[in-house]
Amino acid sequence: MQQTQSYIEANRQRFLDELFDLIRIPSVSTNPDHDKDLQRAAEFVQDCLKAAGADKVEICPTNRHPIVYAEKIIDPKLPTVLVYGHYDVQPADPIELWDAPPFEPTLKDGKIFARGACDDKGQMFMHIKAFEAMMATGELPCNVKFMIEGEEEIGSENLPQFIRENSEKLKADIVLISDTSMIANDIPSITVGLRGIAYVQVEVTGPDRDLHSGSYGGGVVNPINALCQMIAKLKDDKNRITIPGFYDKVVELSAEERAAMAKVPFDLEAYKADLGIEDVAGEEGYTTLERVSVRPTLDVNGIWGGYTGEGAKTIIASKAYAKISMRLVPNQESEEIIRLFSNYFTSLAPKGVKVKIDYYHGGEPVVIPTDLAAYKAAELAMSQTFGKKPIPQRSGGSIPIVQLFKSVLGVNSVLMGFGLDSDAIHSPNENFGLFNYYKGIETIPYFYKNFAELSK
Ligand code: BES
Ligand code: ZN
Repeated sequence: MQQTQSYIEANRQRFLDELFDLIRIPSVSTNPDHDKDLQRAAEFVQDCLKAAGADKVEICPTNRHPIVYAEKIIDPKLPTVLVYGHYDVQPADPIELWDAPPFEPTLKDGKIFARGACDDKGQMFMHIKAFEAMMATGELPCNVKFMIEGEEEIGSENLPQFIRENSEKLKADIVLISDTSMIANDIPSITVGLRGIAYVQVEVTGPDRDLHSGSYGGGVVNPINALCQMIAKLKDDKNRITIPGFYDKVVELSAEERAAMAKVPFDLEAYKADLGIEDVAGEEGYTTLERVSVRPTLDVNGIWGGYTGEGAKTIIASKAYAKISMRLVPNQESEEIIRLFSNYFTSLAPKGVKVKIDYYHGGEPVVIPTDLAAYKAAELAMSQTFGKKPIPQRSGGSIPIVQLFKSVLGVNSVLMGFGLDSDAIHSPNENFGLFNYYKGIETIPYFYKNFAELSK
């Protein structure tokens, strides 16, 4: 691995410049105006994989954004790592809250500021550069396949079909993903669980047109007021979700698991200070770390209706909308949760309004065993480069494909992420530390080496 590390050292600046070029492509998957940018980003990734020495590099079209596939099989008898990542990003809005243009990467305080700097262009690109370094030095110790998609941020809609249809091509011993975070730069951790997700948009319709709020106010159900009341009823005063059956399948943590979680370093005062809040809130009886990782939750992600422009307009709107996400934990199932939500939410509507519910995306929760050879390989790799054994930790985010890899291909994943919660992913001023970018590139080759050795 020494030559690989020297190669990385000698190519630091270029590795950064190339990441910057990828970041400059505004590949916002949810917005059809950017479809061409997704294609361009896919081509960029394809070119990098080709240049790094991968074989069978191809862009696989889907119903929406393409998937980039590549592989390097050095010996079919050796184990195979499937690297998964995504080149799509979340919208940069609200753009006015960024200190610098979101798609023009800027270096400040040792961090790269840009949309996608961490999630997931920066983290995904570490893998391409680590691969390039191992190839250039002849030190790649096992087979590798890459599957880099462009729909992660919109629920990986076309991925299930792709992996079902390409199960032979994607055959691997482990999936390796860097799309999660660590506790801190001096407290490395490996993610061993992800929450699932069920995402809906609700529409509440009252009168068939906007009305004068003086002439009609007080006489009809106001859809915006109704929507607010309905949403308020989704949680009780203990912050428990009131949807009947919602918790039925939730696996409670054992006393030992809770005790282990309580030992994970977490500074509540620093957490509050960082967010500019006076106090935290959540389900009664659980700690903040538990609430944001091993407990399910329900949040309104957006709400609108009526007049929202400058000044005042006196109306009762015809319609009100909200986008609502539910984060799920084992053994909740997104489809069932959507059904329970829909029945209950509809039942909360007062007479005089109609409710329509659109289902956006879902994904299943996952917990990853820590007795896998690949987990041990990651643990050892991080110990080698951080000088400290990483802590296993369940995360509150979702990567729907992880559970699908398990159920469709029968393959486990290792979530060796190098981001930090303070990277502001999905928020204005997203950033990724140079320390983290290079630490990732440095650590990945050790994973390969350890995995090849532990699989013997
Ligand atoms: N990188 C995140 C997932 C993540 C976030 C893991 C924080 C760990 C901590 C990923 O790109 C993401 O944002 N996923 C979406 C999935 C959704 C659109 C189906 C998410 O969690 O909102
Ligand atoms: Zn994301």
